[in-house]
This record gives sequence, C-alpha cells and structure tokens, in this order.
Amino acid sequence: MKGIILAGGTGSRLAPLTLVTNKHLLPVGNKPMILHPVEKLKEAGIQKILIVTGTEHMGAIVGLLGSGKDYGCEFTYRVQDEAGGIAQALALAENFVGDAGCCVILGDNIFDDSIADEVADFEKQGAGARVMLKQVHDPQRYGVARLDGDRVVEILEKPADPPSDWAVTGIYFYDNAIFDIIRGLKPSARGEYEITDVNNAYIHNNTMSFGKFKSWWTDAGTFDSLHHANQLVRG
Ligand code: DAU
Repeated sequence: MKGIILAGGTGSRLAPLTLVTNKHLLPVGNKPMILHPVEKLKEAGIQKILIVTGTEHMGAIVGLLGSGKDYGCEFTYRVQDEAGGIAQALALAENFVGDAGCCVILGDNIFDDSIADEVADFEKQGAGARVMLKQVHDPQRYGVARLDGDRVVEILEKPADPPSDWAVTGIYFYDNAIFDIIRGLKPSARGEYEITDVNNAYIHNNTMSFGKFKSWWTDAGTFDSLHHANQLVRG
C-alpha cells in the first residue's frame, strides 16, 4: 500500500502564521506537524509516501523532508497549483498509486492510535474504501457519518444539524477506483472538490467500511485545535 499526505490548502484559518510558512510546518509537540503523519504511515509499514502541497512553500517542505532517507521513507512530491479541495489534491496521486491501494492522511490530522491494524483490515477488504471515525463534541466542523448499525449510510460535510457525533477523520483508505470517481465530481458550493463526495460515491457502491479511533484524534487547522493538538501530543 502507498501513503499520501495532503499538505496543500491555504491555511487561512491560521493567518498570519501561514502567510510566511506552510501550516504543516508549524510545531506540534517537538516537531513540525507533517512529521506526525509521516511517522504514522511508517509505523504501519508504509514507506512510499507522496506529499502534495502548493507552490508557495514546496521548497520548505522538501527542505525538511528531503528524499526520505533520514526518516526511513521514500518521498515523492506533487504540486497542487491552487487549493481546489482535498479530492483535487488526491487526483494528483494517480500515477503514484498505480495498481496499488492507498492510505491518505490529511497533513493537519494528529492522532494517537497506530493505524497498522487498519491497514491490515483494508488489505483484507481488498477493494473499495475505509474511513476512520471519532466521536467529537463539535461535529458541525467536520464530515459527519450517518450510521445504521454497523454501516455508514451517508456522510454530510459540515452539517448544521449533524445526524450523529461521529466525525469522519482525515485518515482514509482507497483502492485505485478513486481516480475515476474524482473525474466525475463537480465542485461544491464552496468551490472545492470534496472528499465527502468521493466517500459518498463509495457508500453508494456499497464498498465503504469504517474503523473507529480508540484514543485521541484532532485536526490542527485553527488556533484552538492547534493548541489542543500540542496539549495532546505533549501529554
Ligand atoms: O480533519 C477532518 C476533516 O477534513 C473532515 O472531517 C472533512 O470531511 C474534510 O472536508 C476536511 O475538512 P476541513 O475543512 O478541515 O479541511 P481543510 O480545508 O482544513 O483541509 C485539510 C487538509 O487537507 C489540509 O491540512 C491540507 C489538505 N488540503 C486541503 C485543501 C482544501 C490540500 O492538500 N489541498 C486543498 O486544496
């Protein structure tokens, strides 16, 4: 399985910090944010990792990560010219993924659990997609799963009236059918190619499974959540 870390976007909710650097280079604990997902992929046995980021700070990202030899990984880089959404960033991974499956981590997602068992579960599943859920107290900020027993029947992106408190975290597993799905997407009302539309396509095809994080998870894309991520990582 290949790994993908998405580290593009504008980081506008963290301005002015993100005027001069990439959000994923800001410190979380004792290291830049992006090293957390790198370590999670490596811990799960995934060494071939694609990093997607924008034009502004690609140099700094490459300056930190290099070829990957210092981290026991092999990095490939792709540039997303404009922040047109998570699904648009993922489309850049088509050649990198080839016939394999992929584990995607949003670069501002920080979490405690190992994903090694999830990788194994998705490999057993063989095709389709798998998302990771976490119960939160502010589901309106996230993609939210509507559950029916042990099935996820729908995901709503930032719903005003959430159907549950299960957030869809930014840790996803996909087969390579994702690239055909992305080609069929239209931009959302906020003008982005949405990962939630991708996930709903898999749900529609009955090929979506899910896992649940047991320990803590947070994003780090706002001042409050960045502060929280630092508290969680520092224990
Ligand atoms: O954190 C989990 C949430 O992430 C999910 O629950 C939502 O369903 C999903 O849409 C996403 O929501 P956000 O609004 O928090 O996503 P954000 O725009 O902050 O982007 C998250 C990461 O994705 C960001 O750290 C870098 C990457 N990204 C984002 C965009 C818009 C890109 O690489 N390129 C992009 O164009």
